[in-house]
Amino acid sequence: MRLSVEAYRKIDRELAKFPPTKKLSAAVAALTVAQEENGWLPPELIAEVADYLKVPAAALTEVASFYSMFNTHPIGKYKLTICGNLPCEMSGSAMLVDYLKEKLGIGVGETTEDGLFTLVQGECMGACGEGPVILVNNHEMHMQMTREKIDTLIEELRA
Ligand code: FES
Repeated sequence: MRLSVEAYRKIDRELAKFPPTKKLSAAVAALTVAQEENGWLPPELIAEVADYLKVPAAALTEVASFYSMFNTHPIGKYKLTICGNLPCEMSGSAMLVDYLKEKLGIGVGETTEDGLFTLVQGECMGACGEGPVILVNNHEMHMQMTREKIDTLIEELRA
């Protein structure tokens, strides 16, 4: 498995932001580049990035498994991450998790049979006053979610 030249250029730009002795500081950015290209982070890809950064693969594996934005298993086309922290939970996120589980026919951490949706519970996304919050593919934030808004979102993503 090899990342593209363009991916390595992006990683180089991230590495340039840190002193040569602090390459591990570029871990999150480098793994993000790798995931954007490959869709998820298999162990051999993590090892490849670690080799490039000249840091232990175990250190990058820890980073990849700590942050919910990183996919250490194959995922669906759309990753739906629901914030599970207290403010969102008080706004009804747990009820929405149940709703999505039922609607999609999967559990948390699972992917629908058609490969479209993966359901994940994540940590605070910084929009605590606008909960419940759902993040699509780590980038697209949907706030003040309701069952109706979920229905619309799923329809739009399926279309
Ligand atoms: S608690 Fe959900 S975004 Fe902060």
